[in-house]
Amino acid sequence: MPPCTARSMLAMVVIPTTMSHLASIIPLLLGANLIRAEPFNTFDGPGFPACRDVAAVHDPTTVNETISLVRNAAQNQTPVRASGKGHMWYDTMCSDDPSTVIIRTEQLNRISEFSLPEGAQDGSVMIEAGVTFFQLAEYLHLNNASMGYTLVNWNITLAGSIAMGAHRSSLREDSMVAAGALELHIIDGSGNLRIVKRSNQDDWLAASTSLGLLGVIVKVKFKIYPDFKVYAKQDTLIEKEVLEGDIYGMISPYATANFWWWPYLRKFHLRYYDPIPDGFSDQEGFQSTFSVTKTEADIATGLLNSGKILATSNMAAETLFFSLWSPPNFRDKRTDKAISKWPVYGWNYDVLIGGLYPGYSTQWDFGMRGETLELAFPVTIANEVLKRVRGAFDDELKKGIIMTSTYRSGINIKFGKPYNDLLGQVATDTEDGADWSKGALMFDFPTFKPSWGDGERFNEAFYGRLAETLISEFPCRPHWTKNTREVFRWTVEKGRLDSGHLERFKAVREEFDPKGIFKSVVGETLGLY
Ligand SMILES: Cc1cc2nc3c(=O)[nH]c(=O)nc-3n(C[C@H](O)[C@H](O)[C@H](O)COP(=O)(O)OP(=O)(O)OC[C@H]3O[C@@H](n4cnc5c(N)ncnc54)[C@H](O)[C@@H]3O)c2cc1C
Ligand SMILES: *[C@@H]1O[C@H](CO)[C@@H](O)[C@H](O)[C@H]1NC(C)=O
Ligand SMILES: *[C@@H]1O[C@H](CO)[C@@H](O)[C@H](O)[C@H]1NC(C)=O
Ligand SMILES: *[C@@H]1O[C@H](CO)[C@@H](O)[C@H](O)[C@H]1NC(C)=O
Repeated sequence: MPPCTARSMLAMVVIPTTMSHLASIIPLLLGANLIRAEPFNTFDGPGFPACRDVAAVHDPTTVNETISLVRNAAQNQTPVRASGKGHMWYDTMCSDDPSTVIIRTEQLNRISEFSLPEGAQDGSVMIEAGVTFFQLAEYLHLNNASMGYTLVNWNITLAGSIAMGAHRSSLREDSMVAAGALELHIIDGSGNLRIVKRSNQDDWLAASTSLGLLGVIVKVKFKIYPDFKVYAKQDTLIEKEVLEGDIYGMISPYATANFWWWPYLRKFHLRYYDPIPDGFSDQEGFQSTFSVTKTEADIATGLLNSGKILATSNMAAETLFFSLWSPPNFRDKRTDKAISKWPVYGWNYDVLIGGLYPGYSTQWDFGMRGETLELAFPVTIANEVLKRVRGAFDDELKKGIIMTSTYRSGINIKFGKPYNDLLGQVATDTEDGADWSKGALMFDFPTFKPSWGDGERFNEAFYGRLAETLISEFPCRPHWTKNTREVFRWTVEKGRLDSGHLERFKAVREEFDPKGIFKSVVGETLGLY
């Protein structure tokens, strides 16, 4: 016999009722003051909270419903945060207040007002907050249109990406997702819907990378282009060619380009993309970064889990991943056949992003978990930064510790063309005196998180040390969803963020959300409350 707890009594009372009755009875039985405080998780699920404790998660289906939810929260002074697909890495979405409510935007996903007149260079479309990249890409492709280079990844919302300043990799083309936004429709801290249009005014410059602190972005008017085909090509370089090379010159010629670094093998992949003329190729390449089979995931997980204590396993894993990453990670969309030769050709979105191969799952669906760190530096000091990281790896080597990349695509080195807003990673004219005018290099260091023992990575202390070193020694800016609370704190402590930009942002925040109902750990760390 189980002990007669309140819960089992509750169960006896409500067993005959339906689930919807249950939902309405529980609050009555428990009283209005008791709140359900449990974590709201990232895409990685239990054990990986985006918010440590929340009271409720709502899934509105209309803008009006969302307005009501925010008005309610505003009246009760309840903290509220919007969430898209939870594709973020750490517990920084909310503030640490267990009465927080989440407004999940998944059901708010209409696309309307498509406009791309025949012969026009660009046009626009209106999307609701929950629209994901692959949803919009498919819609646009059917209408002979595309979103150009302002894209990030497939199962992520555009609104969530715009909120957090997410970006692709390019020094030549606009590739901040926010750069594609023409209007942002935001429900402010009083529950009023405001339309903020692209301009040079501070309300736009704040809204463009808002960290969700101005309110819930419910709709976005987004810039679109006629659809076009691109090629993808990849070269393998020895480490010295990059560390001693003209990094700006290797990246800036292309519409989009990035490096993947294999530090144990001392090699880089250089991946680059550019448009091809109409009719140049009828290949329909489709990229997949995350597709794995269960067997592949099991092999990688076994190797990497033993790499928690055995450097040799990590060395074997990096060698394996490098060899898998050298041929194209593409299939032909029509036949699902692997493509074995570079360059690969296909439609813009399929080649730049793609998705999952039919019948495959993602590495995280098979329980592989990761951590990451992402910092942006002026591209003018790209060589110094990468050499400093090399130096940090070599310092470990002197102690007999071999560091590797434990991620299936290596260490991701991305780039960003300058884009003017207050809290973006690629803003220029900041008080740090650094030259951001040529753009930024983003050092994105994803790592495998072991699923056993204390869950710490091989040589765990190294990662925090590296972050602190880079933040102390170089002008830099954090990615807003790929860093721990400590990293945000360090960037503030080292004065890496422009105080003028923060002040101007705070003024807009106070006007949109005077009571601070949308606050988050990130906003608090930045001193915006
Ligand atoms: C596998 C993977 C690949 C990624 N690749 C890249 C990449 O290439 N480049 C890059 O820059 N980033 C990348 N990211 C990070 C990702 O783009 C951001 O974390 C993005 O914010 C996630 O959007 P989401 O819809 O999942 O939002 P969530 O994770 O649900 O939310 C993220 C943040 O945005 C806020 N937010 C979400 N929706 C709204 C809204 N409608 N209004 C106001 N605030 C909102 C949330 O409150 C939260 O603070 C990647 C992440 C993953 C997991
Ligand atoms: C939303 O609410 C407003 C004001 O109550 C109303 O005028 C409008 O018709 C509603 N919109 C929809 C789509 O229901
Ligand atoms: C996209 O993410 C959601 C979780 O938000 C998940 O349920 C769904 O399966 C994912 N879609 C794909 C194609 O992986
Ligand atoms: C897209 O372009 C093709 C080829 O030019 C044309 O046949 C088709 O009708 C167009 N589709 C739309 C929705 O405009």
